[in-house]
Amino acid sequence: MNIRRATIDDLTAMIGMAAVADTSARWSAGHFAQIFGETGREAFVAVTPEDAVVGFVVARAITVEWEIENVVVSRAHRRQGIGKALVTTAVERARLAGAVRIHLEVRASNSAAIRLYAAAGFQETGRRMEYYSDPNEDALLLTLPLT
Ligand SMILES: CC(C)(COP(=O)(O)OP(=O)(O)OC[C@H]1O[C@@H](n2cnc3c(N)ncnc32)[C@H](O)[C@@H]1OP(=O)(O)O)[C@@H](O)C(=O)NCCC(=O)NCCS
Repeated sequence: MNIRRATIDDLTAMIGMAAVADTSARWSAGHFAQIFGETGREAFVAVTPEDAVVGFVVARAITVEWEIENVVVSRAHRRQGIGKALVTTAVERARLAGAVRIHLEVRASNSAAIRLYAAAGFQETGRRMEYYSDPNEDALLLTLPLT
């Protein structure tokens, strides 16, 4: 499995993967397209040797604060370390860019993602009550200091 920068040609695969992942950030196709139209966003994909996309991560740089906005691995490829490799890639990119911390929000019930982020060094720094809808749920705020 390789990780490379996402391009606009990966968009269809990314949207398809997110559409069947209930707990991923719920983005419209337009929102996905903005990844490649706006500065300050970084997206990486995990690909097979045949260059089939099996996962992606999207991060946003807000001055020296970075945010992981979305990370999804296709069901058939989970628990193989791909999610962790994608998150680590985004974290290393943020570090190289001079970020001082990287943070994210995650559904309080999304134990797979919470464990993944904990394995990558993130710590819980807050909670937003009933942040998510459908179903209503709190968001945990997780932060990884980079300095
Ligand atoms: C969360 C997600 C990206 C994890 O991807 P993944 O490639 O399966 O994760 P990894 O294989 O790198 O797992 C790394 C560690 O995270 C934890 N983890 C991942 N999935 C887990 C699960 N289902 N249950 C428990 N722990 C889990 C484990 O500690 C794992 O290490 P281990 O396999 O050595 O025990 C994937 O489950 C997914 O796409 N979920 C749907 C979308 C989503 O919820 N995204 C997060 C939005 S904030």
